[in-house]
Amino acid sequence: MTSAHLYTFDRSEDLMTRARKVIPSGVYGHMSPTLLTVGSYPMFLARGEGCRIWDVDGNEYIDFMCSYGPIVLGHRHPKVEQAVNAQRAQVDCQNLPSEKWVELAELLVSITPAADWVVFAKNGSDVTSWALAVARAHTGRDKVTMTSGAYHGTHPWCAPLPTGIPAAERALVATFQYNDLEGLKRVIAENKGQVAAIIINAFRHDVFPYQEMPTLDFLKGARALCDQEGIVLVLDDVRAGFRLNLGGSWEPYGVRPDLRCCSKAIANGYPLAAGMGREELRGAAQSVFFTGTYWGAAVPMAAAIATINTLREEGGIEQMRAMGQRFRDGLEQQARSLGIGINQTGPPAIPFLVFDGDPGFERSCLFCGEAARRGVFLHPRHNWFLMAAHTERDIDQTLAATEEAFKVVKAKYGG
Ligand SMILES: Cc1ncc(COP(=O)(O)O)c(C=O)c1O
Repeated sequence: MTSAHLYTFDRSEDLMTRARKVIPSGVYGHMSPTLLTVGSYPMFLARGEGCRIWDVDGNEYIDFMCSYGPIVLGHRHPKVEQAVNAQRAQVDCQNLPSEKWVELAELLVSITPAADWVVFAKNGSDVTSWALAVARAHTGRDKVTMTSGAYHGTHPWCAPLPTGIPAAERALVATFQYNDLEGLKRVIAENKGQVAAIIINAFRHDVFPYQEMPTLDFLKGARALCDQEGIVLVLDDVRAGFRLNLGGSWEPYGVRPDLRCCSKAIANGYPLAAGMGREELRGAAQSVFFTGTYWGAAVPMAAAIATINTLREEGGIEQMRAMGQRFRDGLEQQARSLGIGINQTGPPAIPFLVFDGDPGFERSCLFCGEAARRGVFLHPRHNWFLMAAHTERDIDQTLAATEEAFKVVKAKYGG
């Protein structure tokens, strides 16, 4: 790994100059380099192997963003690549689905206690919007509720920015605060008999604020309210699914949703989303129009089967939890010994660190930028991700970089 002062980004900068001429903003959305620490990060990546990634200038990083979640086993994991190559040698996108369509649906139903059936799409946004349509078809009601500030994708009902979206698109969405059961009950009472679905993230992972795990009372209360009022409970497991628990992120709580939305980690980076549901909703799922040109493609499905089987066989979930905890403990110890106040939240496999007294994220930007310059790819404003390829050695190497990054923060801001 190269030392801090050797990282330069000339090729990234050249590519960005070219990109700005032919693409609005050059790079937009969550991949925009303006969300990172300008000058300390690359803007384009060239390749990945295991938990390592290389930018277009040849700089190497230990990856803790995992392509914003999809890379769960490691970049180019051999078992996934083998399955992908075997399928690609046959066919990918065709007139009808392949055998993998059935094989993967059977596998998902077998590992998901709350699911009797599965549908496939490409993006998380496809399946979160689909879930609301199924709930509306099932209940004959129009309104839905979500937690305020939650991310459910790019579609008009939930996109984080209102630009270009008519107010009417949002008029049927009521909000409440994550973990606030009384607030949820109030919203449902105010809209009595009109709410089709309550959609809730696996845990609170909105961009910017602290992460928050669900309380058992909240999840049980939401489940009971749905049963009482005939509302469909939707788990948006797009970010957390297949990283915290194979069968669904609320399984450890013993709370089962009616519909579960997944994407990201399901296929180790190959494009695939899945919506799953209970028997009672099969009729509604059959009645909703849902399709896409690429949704039946076989290669991502072969990748998903290999990903899920490998996670199971190799204890991937446990590995991510253990390495995430080792990382968290190391960061805690470093910050404490330097007298820096930090708060680490979320599950160990999807961690996030914020500095005390840092509402503008200046300390985070400095910290993550210094880590990047030392070969560790973190994000100052978005939660991080562990992958099963992270080993103790990788975490220890990462901690050597974060120790230096903390010292730079201490020198500039004090405790
Ligand atoms: C919880 C959650 N839901 C939905 C989405 C949307 O998924 P996609 O970007 O694949 O459309 C995301 C993406 O980050 C997400 O984190």
